[in-house]
Order: sequence, then C-alpha cells, then structure tokens
Amino acid sequence: MHNLLKGKRGIIFGALDSKSIAWKVAERAHEEGATFVLTNAPVAMRLGTIKELAEKTGSEVIPADATSMMDLEVLVDKAVEILGGKIDFVLHSIGMSVNVRRGNHYTNQDYNFTKTGFDVSALSFHRVMSMLHKKDAMNEWGSIVALSYMAAQRVFPDYNDMADNKAYLESVARSFGYFFGIEKKVRVNTISQSPTPTTAGSGVKGFDGFIAYAEKMSPLGNATALECADYTISLFSDLTKKVTLQNLFHDGGFSNMGVSNPIMENFMSTFEHESDTIEETDK
Ligand SMILES: NC(=O)c1ccc[n+]([C@@H]2O[C@H](COP(=O)([O-])OP(=O)(O)OC[C@H]3O[C@@H](n4cnc5c(N)ncnc54)[C@H](O)[C@@H]3O)[C@@H](O)[C@H]2O)c1
Repeated sequence: MHNLLKGKRGIIFGALDSKSIAWKVAERAHEEGATFVLTNAPVAMRLGTIKELAEKTGSEVIPADATSMMDLEVLVDKAVEILGGKIDFVLHSIGMSVNVRRGNHYTNQDYNFTKTGFDVSALSFHRVMSMLHKKDAMNEWGSIVALSYMAAQRVFPDYNDMADNKAYLESVARSFGYFFGIEKKVRVNTISQSPTPTTAGSGVKGFDGFIAYAEKMSPLGNATALECADYTISLFSDLTKKVTLQNLFHDGGFSNMGVSNPIMENFMSTFEHESDTIEETDK
C-alpha cells in the first residue's frame, strides 16, 4: 500500500466481527504500516471474533468497557507500554441503544435504557478523550476520530435515541477538540457514515428500507465499511493535519440531496398507481 501510517501507534475501539467498521479500519491501518491495540467491551470478546483480527494484524486485545474510567485507565497505560510510546491515532467506533434493541418508541423511552445508551454511545467518547488527555498519552499531531450518523442533524424517526447520542458525540468532538488542539496539537473529528450493514446498523428498525433509500438518493451510492476505513486512514495520516473540529459526511453525497430522479420515479409510479385506484373507486 502507501505506508500512510508507517511508524504510527493507535488504539482501535469497536471491532466486533468482520462486518464492523472498526474491523476494516484495523485491517487498513495494518496495511498502511501502523501498530495498534484493539479494544472492546469484555462481553464482545465472547460474542465476537476480535481475536481473529488480532492474529491477522499482529495486535494485542485489551478488554475495556468504554463506560468505565478504571478500564480506560488500564487500557491507555497498557497501550502506551505495549506499543512503546505515545499514541498517534484513536478510533471510537462504539454505539448501542437499549431502547432500539427493546423496540421502545422514541416518544416512550425507558430512561434507564436511555442513560445506558447515552453512556455507551456518546459520553464514552468524552471519557476516552479525557483519559488520553489526563495521561498526556497523545503525540503531537495525533488524530482522534469517532463515527456518527446524519440523524444528528435531520430526522430519521426509527433511529430513536441514537440521534440524540450522535448530536452529543459531534458536539464533544468540537468542544474537546478545541482543548486538544490548543494544548497538544491533536485533531478531533467525527465521520458521518452512510447506513452500513453491521451488527449495530442492522439493529435499527426498517434498516433494509433505510439502506436501499439512501443508495437511490446518493449520487455516488452508499459508502461501504471499507470505504469508510479508507477515509478514516486519511484522517489518521499526516495528509490531513489541519482538519479538526469537523463532522465530515462520508455518504456518497446523501446529506446534500433534496430528492433524486430514481427516488422520484419510484414515488411517482406508486403515486400514479394510487390515483388510478382512487379514480376507479370513484366511478
Ligand atoms: N452501521 C451503520 O449503519 C452506521 C452508520 C453510521 C455510523 N455508525 C456508527 O459506527 C460505529 C460502529 O458501529 P458498526 O456499524 O461498525 O457496528 P458494530 O456493532 O460492529 O460496532 C459497535 C461496537 O460497539 C461496541 N460496544 C458496545 N458497547 C460497548 C462498551 N460498553 N464499551 C466498548 N465497546 C462497546 C460493540 O462491542 C461493537 O464492537 C458506531 O458508532 C455506529 O453508531 C454506524
């Protein structure tokens, strides 16, 4: 490949199985010459196949619940020790809503579930950066990326409380990114990715419709997990040193669309069919 990350050290959160976006990022980071540690919640060690990825990329796995400051402290200390120096890049690729899993409607949430989902999906990003900052574990010109979704800006009814979590996540990237930038010359960004068929993605109600609609709406089609990994690598590389405090859409153009011709044709054929049926009934 291009050795874009040669000599760089990283921490990659959130590789569960080969469909995970973080999995693809780890594979691509390995190809680009980086060394890194992989981490995930202890429960994911049993449910997923992260050890396979660790073998493939010559990485160590350090279990950590991203909602636990104790786990994060051990993770950061061990990562610096294992990798032999400060960290150059961090990927936060974590998301989970208990309300979505249990099928609770947005207007009728179980607030204990809401708090858990917020802690896992959003606050964890602040926690991770806070630990890296406190330990002075980031190298100058390092890069931190978290994954987001456009429901942070626009309404996607079935995305539920994850929409609010993503809005917080993006805000934290800006707020923490300011301090990280001023004090350590570290950049912080979020990537707002197309719907992607992963464990977390497929958990959203009506996901098949969701992804098919986005595909037809986007001039370049949906971005895949591998394409997301490529974009993430560019943000970890030295080619993007002055990009910070941004929410970067990686969605084939979806976020700037009003309507596309394929979507309109689809709508009109249903619409014409419905008007014909109404006229028939009126006769
Ligand atoms: N799949 C999509 O359609 C899509 C679109 C835009 C953004 N995203 C975002 O991409 C990120 C990665 O998701 P994915 O689609 O690769 O799905 P995924 O299910 O493969 O990854 C989610 C990860 O979060 C981890 N996780 C859950 N609770 C945790 C905890 N307490 N501590 C540490 N890790 C924990 C899971 O073990 C899993 O590895 C998420 O932030 C997700 O919201 C996904």
